[in-house]
Amino acid sequence: METIAFFNLKGGVGKTTSAVNIAWHAANEGIPTLLWDLDPQGASSWLLKSKAKTKSEPKRFLSGKSPMGEFVKSTDFTNLDIIPADFSYRHLDQQLTLQSDQGRHNLIGKIIAPFSEKYALIILDCPPSFSELTEQVFDTADSLFVPIIPTHLSLRTFEQTRDYFKEHKLKPKRLHAFFTMVDRRRSLHRIMLAHPPAMLKNGLSTSIPYAAVVERMGDHRAPLPAFDKSSAVSLAYKQLWQDIKATLSEFN
Ligand SMILES: Nc1ncnc2c1ncn2[C@@H]1O[C@H](COP(=O)(O)OP(=O)(O)O)[C@@H](O)[C@H]1O
Ligand SMILES: [Mg+2]
Repeated sequence: METIAFFNLKGGVGKTTSAVNIAWHAANEGIPTLLWDLDPQGASSWLLKSKAKTKSEPKRFLSGKSPMGEFVKSTDFTNLDIIPADFSYRHLDQQLTLQSDQGRHNLIGKIIAPFSEKYALIILDCPPSFSELTEQVFDTADSLFVPIIPTHLSLRTFEQTRDYFKEHKLKPKRLHAFFTMVDRRRSLHRIMLAHPPAMLKNGLSTSIPYAAVVERMGDHRAPLPAFDKSSAVSLAYKQLWQDIKATLSEFN
């Protein structure tokens, strides 16, 4: 089993959109895939028409009272299941911190380990924050994918994450940035794509263009390739999945 995460300290950069589309591509290739929505905003759950059953779920699964399998839902798509989030996930971080203080470290990793019997790929859709939860995701994920809008401030945020990896002796090689929402009408976007800064040397070569059709995922409540297979942005996501797969030893 491979575990990957879409992470960025910033919100609104395309984490959820990427997580949902990449999950669809993996599942479509026959890879049993589980997407875990870790964000209390529940955007990937909503896009896949999934709803958490009850409130306070984090408390229940972190205490071990309910086996994690209870929270898994199927989606409209073969090979693609989801653990949906609801607003109670806003307490997840606090509860992980509490447990960690009591000596129970990296619960996220421990919780997903048994899923290796059923799934070959776990995708974590992270909230935009730096916290105990994200630190556990950093420890757990085999590879982390960081969508970046080509601006100076976004790069600065990526640098902070990369520095964190270095400081904590985490392998920065696991950290892969890629450009999203690229608007070629904007000169800064064009310049950054033509001359990617050195800190992105480990990044993916595919970039995702800005395109209004992406917003239609919300009308369909479906991954983009489920209703549009031919637009440039849909093809870019297909290519991005190939890039991502190339970083994962199990699929090579
Ligand atoms: N390539 C794109 N082109 C146009 N809009 C996009 C693109 N990627 C994402 N969006 C839109 O931007 C908003 C934020 O995207 P989202 O994936 O939810 O970001 P995050 O999970 O990082 O907060 C959403 O409304 C989404 O539809
Ligand atoms: Mg999101």
